[in-house]
Amino acid sequence: DNHGGHLPTRLKGLDKALCGGIPFGVLTELVGPAGIGKTQFCMKLSLLASLPTSCGGLNGRVIYIDVESKLTSRRIIEIGTESLPEIFQIKGMAQEMAGRILVLRPASLHEFTESLQQIKVSIFQHQVKLLVIDSMAAVVSRDYGHAALRQHSLGWHISFIKSLAELSRIPVVVTNQVRSQSRDEACHYSFQAQSRGKATEVPAGYDSHLVAALGIHWAHAVTIRLVLEAKSGERFIKLAKSPISPPLAFPFTITSSGISL
Ligand code: GTP
Repeated sequence: DNHGGHLPTRLKGLDKALCGGIPFGVLTELVGPAGIGKTQFCMKLSLLASLPTSCGGLNGRVIYIDVESKLTSRRIIEIGTESLPEIFQIKGMAQEMAGRILVLRPASLHEFTESLQQIKVSIFQHQVKLLVIDSMAAVVSRDYGHAALRQHSLGWHISFIKSLAELSRIPVVVTNQVRSQSRDEACHYSFQAQSRGKATEVPAGYDSHLVAALGIHWAHAVTIRLVLEAKSGERFIKLAKSPISPPLAFPFTITSSGISL
Protein backbone atom coordinates (compact mmCIF):
# COMPACT_ATOMS: atom_id res chain seq x y z
CA ASP A 1 0.00 0.00 0.00
CA ASN A 2 2.43 2.71 -1.15
CA HIS A 3 -0.06 4.81 -3.14
CA GLY A 4 1.78 3.97 -6.31
CA GLY A 5 4.94 6.08 -6.16
CA HIS A 6 8.62 5.55 -5.41
CA LEU A 7 11.74 7.62 -4.94
CA PRO A 8 14.47 5.71 -6.80
CA THR A 9 17.69 5.38 -4.76
CA ARG A 10 19.69 4.74 -7.97
CA LEU A 11 21.19 1.74 -6.22
CA LYS A 12 20.05 -0.66 -8.91
CA GLY A 13 19.64 -3.93 -7.04
CA LEU A 14 17.94 -2.16 -4.15
CA ASP A 15 15.51 -0.30 -6.42
CA LYS A 16 14.65 -3.55 -8.14
CA ALA A 17 13.99 -5.31 -4.82
CA LEU A 18 11.85 -2.35 -3.70
CA CYS A 19 9.92 -2.31 -7.00
CA GLY A 20 11.21 1.16 -7.88
CA GLY A 21 12.70 2.67 -4.75
CA ILE A 22 11.62 4.17 -1.42
CA PRO A 23 7.80 3.96 -1.44
CA PHE A 24 5.50 6.96 -0.98
CA GLY A 25 3.04 7.06 1.88
CA VAL A 26 4.84 4.78 4.33
CA LEU A 27 7.77 4.86 6.77
CA THR A 28 11.18 3.59 5.69
CA GLU A 29 13.74 3.10 8.46
CA LEU A 30 17.53 3.10 8.02
CA VAL A 31 19.26 1.43 10.94
CA GLY A 32 22.89 0.75 11.66
CA PRO A 33 25.88 1.56 13.86
CA ALA A 34 27.56 4.98 14.11
CA GLY A 35 29.46 6.01 11.01
CA ILE A 36 28.03 3.33 8.72
CA GLY A 37 26.51 5.84 6.29
CA LYS A 38 22.89 6.51 7.27
CA THR A 39 23.28 10.28 6.94
CA GLN A 40 25.19 9.89 3.66
CA PHE A 41 22.28 7.84 2.33
CA CYS A 42 19.74 10.45 3.48
CA MET A 43 21.69 13.28 1.83
CA LYS A 44 21.71 11.37 -1.45
CA LEU A 45 17.96 10.72 -1.22
CA SER A 46 17.34 14.41 -0.49
CA LEU A 47 19.25 15.39 -3.58
CA LEU A 48 17.40 12.87 -5.73
CA ALA A 49 14.00 14.07 -4.47
CA SER A 50 14.84 17.70 -5.27
CA LEU A 51 15.97 17.01 -8.86
CA PRO A 52 13.65 17.99 -11.72
CA THR A 53 11.46 15.15 -12.98
CA SER A 54 13.26 15.37 -16.33
CA CYS A 55 16.38 14.24 -14.45
CA GLY A 56 14.57 11.42 -12.67
CA GLY A 57 13.81 13.38 -9.49
CA LEU A 58 10.58 14.32 -7.74
CA ASN A 59 11.03 18.05 -8.42
CA GLY A 60 10.10 18.93 -4.87
CA ARG A 61 11.31 20.34 -1.64
CA VAL A 62 12.71 18.20 1.15
CA ILE A 63 12.24 18.68 4.88
CA TYR A 64 15.28 17.30 6.66
CA ILE A 65 15.18 17.06 10.48
CA ASP A 66 18.88 17.11 11.27
CA VAL A 67 18.93 16.30 14.98
CA GLU A 68 22.70 15.95 15.29
CA SER A 69 23.71 18.74 12.87
CA LYS A 70 25.34 16.38 10.40
CA LEU A 71 24.01 17.68 7.11
CA THR A 72 26.14 20.18 5.21
CA SER A 73 25.28 21.83 1.92
CA ARG A 74 28.96 21.51 0.96
CA ARG A 75 28.64 17.71 1.07
CA ILE A 76 25.23 17.76 -0.68
CA ILE A 77 26.75 19.79 -3.52
CA GLU A 78 29.77 17.49 -3.69
CA ILE A 79 27.56 14.40 -3.96
CA GLY A 80 25.51 16.08 -6.70
CA THR A 81 28.51 17.30 -8.65
CA GLU A 82 30.28 13.94 -8.52
CA SER A 83 27.31 11.62 -9.07
CA LEU A 84 25.28 13.72 -11.54
CA PRO A 85 27.90 15.87 -13.32
CA GLU A 86 25.74 16.47 -16.40
CA ILE A 87 23.00 18.08 -14.27
CA PHE A 88 25.21 19.91 -11.80
CA GLN A 89 27.36 21.55 -14.44
CA ILE A 90 24.32 23.68 -15.33
CA LYS A 91 24.98 27.10 -13.84
CA GLY A 92 23.24 27.71 -10.50
CA MET A 93 21.84 24.17 -10.39
CA ALA A 94 23.87 23.03 -7.37
CA GLN A 95 22.75 25.99 -5.27
CA GLU A 96 19.15 25.62 -6.41
CA MET A 97 19.04 21.92 -5.55
CA ALA A 98 20.70 22.45 -2.16
CA GLY A 99 18.28 25.33 -1.53
CA ARG A 100 15.33 23.00 -1.91
CA ILE A 101 16.39 21.09 1.18
CA LEU A 102 14.89 22.76 4.24
CA VAL A 103 16.91 21.79 7.31
CA LEU A 104 15.34 21.82 10.79
CA ARG A 105 17.43 21.37 13.92
CA PRO A 106 15.13 20.85 16.91
CA ALA A 107 17.12 21.33 20.12
CA SER A 108 14.86 19.21 22.33
CA LEU A 109 12.08 16.64 22.23
CA HIS A 110 9.67 19.50 22.81
CA GLU A 111 10.98 21.38 19.76
CA PHE A 112 10.86 18.18 17.72
CA THR A 113 7.19 17.78 18.62
CA GLU A 114 6.51 21.36 17.54
CA SER A 115 8.43 20.86 14.27
CA LEU A 116 6.28 17.86 13.40
CA GLN A 117 3.12 19.90 13.79
CA GLN A 118 4.50 22.68 11.58
CA ILE A 119 5.65 20.14 8.99
CA LYS A 120 2.12 18.84 8.62
CA VAL A 121 1.15 22.25 7.21
CA SER A 122 4.40 22.88 5.27
CA ILE A 123 4.26 19.59 3.35
CA PHE A 124 1.15 20.73 1.52
CA GLN A 125 2.08 24.41 1.18
CA HIS A 126 5.58 23.93 -0.17
CA GLN A 127 5.43 20.90 -2.46
CA VAL A 128 7.50 18.79 -0.11
CA LYS A 129 8.31 15.43 -1.71
CA LEU A 130 10.48 13.86 0.99
CA LEU A 131 10.65 14.00 4.79
CA VAL A 132 13.84 12.81 6.50
CA ILE A 133 14.23 12.40 10.26
CA ASP A 134 17.93 11.84 11.12
CA SER A 135 17.73 10.44 13.74
CA MET A 136 14.59 9.59 15.67
CA ALA A 137 16.39 7.83 18.53
CA ALA A 138 18.75 10.78 18.93
CA VAL A 139 15.84 13.08 19.74
CA VAL A 140 15.14 11.04 22.86
CA SER A 141 18.62 9.85 23.82
CA ARG A 142 20.08 13.36 23.62
CA ASP A 143 17.57 14.65 26.18
CA TYR A 144 17.20 11.59 28.37
CA GLY A 145 20.12 9.21 27.64
CA HIS A 146 20.24 5.85 25.83
CA ALA A 147 18.63 3.96 28.69
CA ALA A 148 15.50 6.09 28.33
CA LEU A 149 14.81 4.90 24.80
CA ARG A 150 12.70 1.95 25.79
CA GLN A 151 10.86 3.66 28.61
CA HIS A 152 10.18 6.87 26.78
CA SER A 153 7.36 5.79 24.59
CA LEU A 154 7.28 7.87 21.46
CA GLY A 155 3.75 6.62 20.85
CA TRP A 156 2.28 9.96 19.84
CA HIS A 157 5.23 10.82 17.58
CA ILE A 158 5.22 7.45 15.87
CA SER A 159 1.50 7.61 15.10
CA PHE A 160 1.80 11.22 13.96
CA ILE A 161 4.72 10.53 11.59
CA LYS A 162 2.97 7.50 10.15
CA SER A 163 -0.19 9.49 9.51
CA LEU A 164 1.91 12.30 7.97
CA ALA A 165 3.27 9.78 5.47
CA GLU A 166 -0.18 8.39 4.71
CA LEU A 167 -1.88 11.78 4.35
CA SER A 168 0.82 13.46 2.30
CA ARG A 169 1.70 10.35 0.29
CA ILE A 170 5.39 11.22 0.30
CA PRO A 171 8.28 8.96 1.28
CA VAL A 172 9.28 9.36 4.92
CA VAL A 173 12.78 8.14 5.83
CA VAL A 174 13.84 7.81 9.46
CA THR A 175 17.30 6.82 10.69
CA ASN A 176 18.12 5.08 13.95
CA GLN A 177 21.47 4.20 15.38
CA VAL A 178 22.09 0.80 16.89
CA ARG A 179 25.26 -0.09 18.71
CA SER A 180 27.58 -2.63 17.13
CA GLN A 181 26.62 -6.21 17.71
CA SER A 182 28.56 -8.44 20.04
CA ARG A 183 30.60 -11.22 18.43
CA ASP A 184 27.98 -13.83 19.20
CA GLU A 185 25.24 -11.77 17.68
CA ALA A 186 27.35 -10.94 14.65
CA CYS A 187 27.82 -14.67 14.19
CA HIS A 188 24.15 -15.41 14.71
CA TYR A 189 23.16 -12.76 12.19
CA SER A 190 25.86 -13.64 9.72
CA PHE A 191 25.10 -14.04 6.07
CA GLN A 192 27.07 -14.96 2.98
CA ALA A 193 27.76 -12.36 0.33
CA GLN A 194 28.43 -13.84 -3.05
CA SER A 195 30.14 -11.18 -5.11
CA ARG A 196 30.09 -7.40 -5.27
CA GLY A 197 26.82 -6.06 -6.61
CA LYS A 198 25.04 -9.39 -6.23
CA ALA A 199 22.19 -9.77 -3.81
CA THR A 200 22.24 -12.48 -1.21
CA GLU A 201 19.41 -13.91 0.86
CA VAL A 202 19.70 -13.58 4.61
CA PRO A 203 17.80 -15.63 7.17
CA ALA A 204 14.49 -14.14 8.27
CA GLY A 205 14.30 -12.75 11.77
CA TYR A 206 17.99 -11.99 12.00
CA ASP A 207 17.42 -8.40 12.98
CA SER A 208 15.10 -9.07 15.89
CA HIS A 209 17.49 -7.27 18.27
CA LEU A 210 17.00 -4.06 16.31
CA VAL A 211 13.29 -4.09 16.94
CA ALA A 212 13.89 -3.32 20.60
CA ALA A 213 15.67 -0.01 19.97
CA LEU A 214 12.52 2.14 19.77
CA GLY A 215 10.03 -0.45 20.96
CA ILE A 216 7.49 -2.68 19.32
CA HIS A 217 5.11 0.15 18.36
CA TRP A 218 7.84 1.66 16.21
CA ALA A 219 8.80 -1.72 14.70
CA HIS A 220 5.23 -2.20 13.54
CA ALA A 221 4.87 1.34 12.19
CA VAL A 222 7.79 0.86 9.80
CA THR A 223 6.97 -0.66 6.40
CA ILE A 224 10.52 -0.92 5.00
CA ARG A 225 13.60 -1.46 7.17
CA LEU A 226 17.05 -1.15 5.65
CA VAL A 227 19.91 -2.29 7.89
CA LEU A 228 23.36 -0.87 7.13
CA GLU A 229 26.31 -2.75 8.53
CA ALA A 230 29.98 -3.49 8.07
CA LYS A 231 31.46 -6.94 7.83
CA SER A 232 35.03 -7.95 6.96
CA GLY A 233 35.80 -4.40 5.87
CA GLU A 234 32.82 -4.17 3.52
CA ARG A 235 29.60 -2.24 4.01
CA PHE A 236 26.22 -3.83 3.31
CA ILE A 237 22.65 -2.64 2.97
CA LYS A 238 20.20 -5.33 3.98
CA LEU A 239 16.55 -5.18 3.10
CA ALA A 240 15.48 -6.50 6.47
CA LYS A 241 11.76 -5.79 6.28
CA SER A 242 9.67 -5.42 3.18
CA PRO A 243 6.14 -6.46 2.22
CA ILE A 244 7.32 -7.36 -1.28
CA SER A 245 10.89 -8.63 -1.16
CA PRO A 246 12.76 -11.47 0.54
CA PRO A 247 15.61 -10.33 2.82
CA LEU A 248 18.46 -9.37 0.49
CA ALA A 249 21.87 -7.79 1.15
CA PHE A 250 23.81 -5.50 -1.17
CA PRO A 251 27.44 -4.42 -0.72
CA PHE A 252 27.93 -0.63 -0.96
CA THR A 253 30.67 1.97 -0.76
CA ILE A 254 30.83 5.65 0.22
CA THR A 255 32.89 7.87 -2.05
CA SER A 256 32.94 11.52 -3.03
CA SER A 257 29.79 10.83 -5.06
CA GLY A 258 27.99 9.50 -1.98
CA ILE A 259 26.55 6.03 -1.51
CA SER A 260 26.92 3.58 -4.39
CA LEU A 261 26.57 -0.15 -4.90
P1 GTP B 1 25.73 8.14 13.05
O1 GTP B 1 24.98 9.40 12.77
O2 GTP B 1 26.90 8.36 13.94
O3 GTP B 1 24.84 7.04 13.54
O4 GTP B 1 26.39 7.61 11.67
P2 GTP B 1 25.81 7.49 10.20
O5 GTP B 1 25.42 6.08 9.95
O6 GTP B 1 24.82 8.54 9.91
O7 GTP B 1 27.10 7.70 9.34
P3 GTP B 1 27.39 8.82 8.24
O8 GTP B 1 26.33 8.79 7.20
O9 GTP B 1 27.70 10.09 8.92
O10 GTP B 1 28.66 8.17 7.54
C1 GTP B 1 29.95 8.43 7.97
C2 GTP B 1 30.85 7.76 6.97
O11 GTP B 1 30.61 8.30 5.67
C3 GTP B 1 32.29 8.05 7.27
O12 GTP B 1 32.83 6.97 7.98
C4 GTP B 1 32.91 8.12 5.91
O13 GTP B 1 33.29 6.83 5.53
C5 GTP B 1 31.80 8.53 5.01
N1 GTP B 1 31.86 9.95 4.64
C6 GTP B 1 31.35 10.98 5.35
N2 GTP B 1 31.60 12.14 4.74
C7 GTP B 1 32.28 11.83 3.62
C8 GTP B 1 32.85 12.62 2.57
O14 GTP B 1 32.73 13.83 2.54
N3 GTP B 1 33.49 11.94 1.57
C9 GTP B 1 33.58 10.60 1.57
N4 GTP B 1 34.23 9.99 0.56
N5 GTP B 1 33.07 9.83 2.55
C10 GTP B 1 32.44 10.44 3.55
